[in-house]
Amino acid sequence: KATPRSRRIIGSLIQHIHDFTRENYITVDEWMYGVEFINKIGQMSDSTRNEGILVSDVLGLEALVDTQTHAVAERHGSSTAATSSAILGPFYRENSPVYKNGESIIIKEVGGVKAYVSGKITNTQGEALAGAMVEVWHCAPNGLYEQQDPEQPDFNLRGTFYTDKDGFYSFVCLEPTAYPIPYDGPAGGLLQFMDRHPMRPSHIHWRVTHPSYHSLITQIYNREDPYTEDDSVFAVKEDCVVDFIKADGKIAEEHQVEKELRFSVA
Ligand code: DHB
Ligand code: FE
Repeated sequence: KATPRSRRIIGSLIQHIHDFTRENYITVDEWMYGVEFINKIGQMSDSTRNEGILVSDVLGLEALVDTQTHAVAERHGSSTAATSSAILGPFYRENSPVYKNGESIIIKEVGGVKAYVSGKITNTQGEALAGAMVEVWHCAPNGLYEQQDPEQPDFNLRGTFYTDKDGFYSFVCLEPTAYPIPYDGPAGGLLQFMDRHPMRPSHIHWRVTHPSYHSLITQIYNREDPYTEDDSVFAVKEDCVVDFIKADGKIAEEHQVEKELRFSVA
């Protein structure tokens, strides 16, 4: 049903597409190439792959809407002291296993360096948030998320945690690995047309929710990874770059990292 917003958006889209088409003298053959490109996006998408998100991401669109949406929240009165949001990416799954703080999200050993990740969830005033739901997910050292990889059990390297009464969470995972976004489809074709690589810097995804606050979707990145400066989908935010350091010996894991996440008020 038409609304003022839908009329504005569709009108603007048509205007820009027509301008683009005129500006570049797009021919019938080129237009048909584009139509087939869009059809291919649909044909390649299934429960293990979201090609639409991939295409939008190599064009920088998800990073743009993420940044822009976050900026709107700030204009509406939330503090800029909130942790930066980041793109959700194509591999989020709901209802990952619930673990106790300190437990591991590794269901099946797949190599890599174990890391102990811990921190505190607060609001923008720095007050601890108890009972916040922290969902995390990352890929295996072979570069594949569990749902892309027949060798990994369901929900490997994904987990849900709840902050304790002082706002703390902790879990064991693997130090993440840089990997290429799937590039055997339309998104990969676009990258090739632009002479660009498909690599994303190593990262851990987060979705943190609390009944009284905005939810926070973000990622953390390893400062040591050269791709942190050169992300194929333009998603890195400086305050989400962290140091994985050698663990102090009090824990079994090789490396550790601490990350405090700040929520803006709903
Ligand atoms: C993209 C993002 C991811 O986090 C990922 O793991 C793969 C692809 C993307 O933005 O396309
Ligand atoms: Fe990812």
